[in-house]
Amino acid sequence: MDVLLIGGGGREHALAWKLKQSPKLGKLFIAPGNAGTRELGENIAISATDIPALIQFVQKNAIGLTIVGPDDPLALGIVDEFRKRNLRIFGPTKASAQIESSKAYAKALMKEANIPTADFETFTDYEAALAYVRRKGAPIVVKASGLALGKGVSVCATLEEAEKALNEIMVQHIHKEAGNEVVIEEFLLGQEISIHVLCDGIDFKMFPAAQDHKRALDDDQGKNTGGMGTIAPVPWVTPEMMYSIERTIVRPTLEALSFKSGPFAGMLFPGIIMTMNGPKVLEFNARFGDPETQVYMRLMKNDLLDVLNAVVDKTLGQINMEWLPMHAANIVLASGGYPDAYEKGFEITGLEEAGKMEEIVVFHAGTTQEGGIVKTAGGRVLGVSSLGSPLKSALARAYAAADKIQFQGKHMRRDIGAKSI
Ligand code: AMP
Ligand code: GLY
Repeated sequence: MDVLLIGGGGREHALAWKLKQSPKLGKLFIAPGNAGTRELGENIAISATDIPALIQFVQKNAIGLTIVGPDDPLALGIVDEFRKRNLRIFGPTKASAQIESSKAYAKALMKEANIPTADFETFTDYEAALAYVRRKGAPIVVKASGLALGKGVSVCATLEEAEKALNEIMVQHIHKEAGNEVVIEEFLLGQEISIHVLCDGIDFKMFPAAQDHKRALDDDQGKNTGGMGTIAPVPWVTPEMMYSIERTIVRPTLEALSFKSGPFAGMLFPGIIMTMNGPKVLEFNARFGDPETQVYMRLMKNDLLDVLNAVVDKTLGQINMEWLPMHAANIVLASGGYPDAYEKGFEITGLEEAGKMEEIVVFHAGTTQEGGIVKTAGGRVLGVSSLGSPLKSALARAYAAADKIQFQGKHMRRDIGAKSI
């Protein structure tokens, strides 16, 4: 089966790496891909959001399955457009993807279905939002409702920070239309985990819990990013906790989603805080996480192509998900300055040496290749992943390999997984 994978980040390199291991895979195309995916298939110069061009490519090349990586094509309705033309595609419809693309939609769904989440209010009026923040006081969390590349959230320790965040979103419009509506919510205290639930609209399969590290700097300091490193499974997450998440969050969410927007097919990825009062939802995503996918693909024993085909064919119930009995860790190497402005175009060295180390796979994210030289081309540049048991050994291996790779301005967190060892 020939496959088109949409996206060009670390998540897509990890998906491509895993797809490539399937004996059933024919040709693999990645749109637009990166310097890592070009080693595994053919990168094609179509943007992830150019839906007409993607449809044309799929029809012309008789692609058997299209897999959507990032959120924006989903929010634009790529799945609806493909289905209208009887083209097989992995991902939720535009209506279902609202659970990620509109925080206001997600919050309303959680309220209706009684799903545990932070208390919140939504605002479109700046003065009303300001008055609310002043009444509630800090700590408090201010979020742009729309998609803002994972940067639309400010966790504010003081009232001044909250007022500044509101001003930036609603007066200065730094996130443009994504900030027309603002969600203001209670600060939740506890460790954050990522839950991935693969759904075909009838059955679902929960992956082991993963943990991302969202802040740019060690000790959860600095700004929120797309994610600076992941581990899975999370050693302290018990089967009882997973069951509680399934019962209080996963099942009621799928039921409410089905009622509101039709059966959910694709990946449902709630970000959850394990509070003193049980698991509470921070946000929902309607796609694979990045860099969660990098650790999941290292651990998954199944043929990924079989699994994703089963979702599209609604036969997921027949699949038995199997995972290596080990831990995986993925350390993100970022450009200096990320998530704010950063320079790119720097040569990356040490990739080959790192890639040869035991249990190491280096996933590319923001990279390009020009005349045989791999260069930085984005904020998150690479993910250095390793397997090991216990978790500590996976982390030690990943860091040893990460230290072999160099580029100007390279930045990584040194404490990925540290709280879980
Ligand atoms: P979100 O995009 O909504 O997941 O928010 C990004 C990050 O901000 C999360 O991964 C958390 O680390 C943090 N965050 C968001 N909402 C809250 C909250 N209510 N309490 C504590 N931390 C939060
Ligand atoms: N790693 C978090 C996300 O993909 O949204």
